[in-house]
Amino acid sequence: MADIIDGKSAAAQVVEGVKKSAAALGAHGIKPGLAVVIVGEDPASQVYVANKSRTAKECGFHSVQHTLAAETSEAELVALVEKLNADPDIHGILVQLPLPAHIDAGKIIQTIAPDKDVDGFHFINVGKLATGELDTALVPCTPAGSMLLIEKRHGKDLSGLSAVVVGRSNIVGKPMASLLLAANATVTIAHSRTKDLPALCRTADILVGAVGRPEMIKGDWVKPGATVIDVGINRVPAPDKGEGKSRLVGDVEFASAERNAGAITPVPGGVGPMTIAMLMANTLVSAYRHAGLEYRGL
Ligand code: GUN
Repeated sequence: MADIIDGKSAAAQVVEGVKKSAAALGAHGIKPGLAVVIVGEDPASQVYVANKSRTAKECGFHSVQHTLAAETSEAELVALVEKLNADPDIHGILVQLPLPAHIDAGKIIQTIAPDKDVDGFHFINVGKLATGELDTALVPCTPAGSMLLIEKRHGKDLSGLSAVVVGRSNIVGKPMASLLLAANATVTIAHSRTKDLPALCRTADILVGAVGRPEMIKGDWVKPGATVIDVGINRVPAPDKGEGKSRLVGDVEFASAERNAGAITPVPGGVGPMTIAMLMANTLVSAYRHAGLEYRGL
């Protein structure tokens, strides 16, 4: 049976470190500032954003939330982002996705100042990650958090290990592959057009599921002893819990994968908690950089 990787406790450790370093920055008269912007009333987004703002306060940050009506125009949102770009008390800006269809999300992301882009989605940060400029990049939170969990198991140098990332999104799959490559793993990105996906997955010492398809990756796709990182968070019906009830599952079929893996992240309680923790870490890193200081905490 696999070791279960406890993302909750790893995230709590990160948040503890962030709190301490934020307090240290306080001695220089600086408080890390995070602005979270949400447009519209998507209930899932409301929950995510509330968690982000709450954790920021817990870390001792200056935490600002802008909740805008669903009818907000693109120009109004651009104007808000530009105001936050110019605000010296704000070191991190996160615009919650998805945005309403009438707003071009790509344009909004590219409006965020790259040095405040704590999501790491701006082309500048994407390019820095891809070229290995990690000292000045801001790295997307979910892949960064997944990487910390991998480091706990394998250390920082993944030389000789093969990694398969299932999923090629800009938010997870591609940055995850860049981070694994930067750590010297031999990396393959798989996706819906990949031939014989089960066989490819069986070659992976590190298998990352980031496709957004409930329990698609089966236990017999997992190489014995492999480390399995499940990034998926999918809500599926759970009639066994009662009518209309649901449960969260990952992209990996946990019960069968657990039998083959050496270590595996559960859903919930694996990668999920790491995402918010890394958002705090990114905001802290940005505040240090804005102060002309170097943060070497994580
Ligand atoms: N919506 C779901 N995940 C994310 C994320 O990581 N960042 C932003 N901005 N929106 C999201």
